[in-house]
Amino acid sequence: MTRKTGLIGHPVSHSLSPVIHTHWLQQYRIDGTYTAIDIAPDDLSTRVRALVDDGYVGFNVTLPHKEEIAFLCDDLDDTAQAVGAVNTVTIDNRGRLHGHNTDVDGFINHLKSSVPDFHLSGKHAVVLGAGGAARAVLYALLREDFEWITLINRTRERAVAVANDLDDDGRVLIVDWEKRGGALADTDLLVNTTSLGMTGQAPLDMDVGGLSPNAVVYDIVYRPLMTPLLQQAKMRGNTIVTGLGMLLHQARPAFDAWYGVMPHVDDELESIVMERLVGS
Ligand code: ATR
Repeated sequence: MTRKTGLIGHPVSHSLSPVIHTHWLQQYRIDGTYTAIDIAPDDLSTRVRALVDDGYVGFNVTLPHKEEIAFLCDDLDDTAQAVGAVNTVTIDNRGRLHGHNTDVDGFINHLKSSVPDFHLSGKHAVVLGAGGAARAVLYALLREDFEWITLINRTRERAVAVANDLDDDGRVLIVDWEKRGGALADTDLLVNTTSLGMTGQAPLDMDVGGLSPNAVVYDIVYRPLMTPLLQQAKMRGNTIVTGLGMLLHQARPAFDAWYGVMPHVDDELESIVMERLVGS
């Protein structure tokens, strides 16, 4: 029987996830489908129930549903519970919903594979943003034993709330958004999790002049692939990490959870996705 999966969000038409999962379904000759499904916030509960009734085995979750969907799940795995956001749901044969968060591993695995010489333990990071993506990134860095992490968000209270939820041992320092340029000395890793720099959004207005030449700069925005932040960092000689890898790496465990195969990110998939990005 065809095993149906998909992505729920609002909007979802721009998503690259259907391209990624459909590629793997074909590559591993699995009888399945992956469809983008636009669900407005008010309809979330009814439409999710309809997916269960329709025999779906699971789905990914994107903006703006990542936090709300957690309340509709029957249980959450430890990571989703700790992060407070769900990006992958599996549905068992009794119609029960299980929430997972694969953004955490997607972020960190991509960092490790892109910059293998970068040892994470004992380092200092600056994280910009305080949304669902920032929660996943912060959780991952705390788990990897970063010594301290500076969290900077336009709305300071949101950053405080994230730190309160995730920081058990006082390793997160909050800095005001206006002071972001001055917070970069001694930073080993700068991560942008805000939507600034994304196509259609303002660029991230940040002077990275205070950053050490050895620092790694990671932007989780992948449209465009080379955001103004990454262009600036690359020109200074910093190692950069684009957001595309996180997208690909968070998809792998989701596919495994639904179809029982841990897929690979091969050159063919990367070039298919790059082509889509350039063409869009
Ligand atoms: P996600 O779950 O993908 O992280 P989100 O919850 O909408 O998405 O978070 C978007 C992030 O981008 C937030 O940190 C937001 O800052 P606020 O908490 O102050 O809203 C940040 N952001 C969006 N537009 C911004 C802007 N113009 N200037 C500064 N930060 C911005």
